Amino acid sequence: MNDDKRIDGKAFSASVREKVKRQVETLQRDHGITPGLAVVLVGEDPASQVYVRNKAKQTVEAGMRSDEIRMEATATQAEVLEVVDRLNADPGIHGILVQLPLPDQIDETAVLDRIDPAKDVDGFHVINTGRLQVGLPALVPCTPRGCLMMLKDRLGDLSGLNAIVIGRSNIVGKPMAMLLLQESCTVTIAHSRTKDLPELCRRQDIVVAAVGRPHFVKGDWIAEGATVIDVGINRVPKDDGKTRLVGDVDYDEAVERAGAITPVPGGVGPMTIACLLANTITACCMANGIEEPA
Ligand code: GUN
Repeated sequence: MNDDKRIDGKAFSASVREKVKRQVETLQRDHGITPGLAVVLVGEDPASQVYVRNKAKQTVEAGMRSDEIRMEATATQAEVLEVVDRLNADPGIHGILVQLPLPDQIDETAVLDRIDPAKDVDGFHVINTGRLQVGLPALVPCTPRGCLMMLKDRLGDLSGLNAIVIGRSNIVGKPMAMLLLQESCTVTIAHSRTKDLPELCRRQDIVVAAVGRPHFVKGDWIAEGATVIDVGINRVPKDDGKTRLVGDVDYDEAVERAGAITPVPGGVGPMTIACLLANTITACCMANGIEEPA
């Protein structure tokens, strides 16, 4: 019974990647265009290296061009900006992603804002943030785009539903709230100063947890039948001295009340790279003035 409630992000992301692969084939066949994604990694952060390797692998599997630019941890701001400028000018590159976090000597905002907004597949540039805000076509951050896809797949029309987003980051919380508002949800954005959060949560049809605190959201915060999207990826110690990944939601408690819920791992996580590929298709089609293939 509880198995039916589990939203399988792994299977869903595979279907998104299959669609992207078909779109790449169509773009090549009908327009002679191969979408290209460049990822810039500065330094040796182990988690970033894993992300970047997975991104490159999935980009190639989707049939796209994949460029990986690795720079020393001691790279200067001017050197990173020079790489961004070169990629901005490369007509074969449709998407640029600079992996975060960047080393301390580099001004993150300055780098992100140097990326051509038309190639900003992370959707972090202020131009894309602003376009999303006013409802213009925009490149949307990958994780919220993936969350919305899963919500619409499960619930269909979201219009009129009450939704709470817990967390107000620029990467997840704020864009997620904007996307839900665009779907005509009534949206609450909660954060560390929010009063009576459990009570507020219990009034929601949709709960998106993006606070970065293990098992922050308890089972009795969830209304009977609500849909729960858990964006958290927290590494916690186990009794045997090893570690495991848990979400921001106490899954075992919440699954008893939720109508549908994403697990961690295997929920939102796999959707992020799939949406990065989908964003690269979007950017490629916009750059060439063609409609996105079905
Ligand atoms: N580091 C961790 N997640 C992300 C992401 O989605 N985009 C970028 N650029 N860096 C990250």
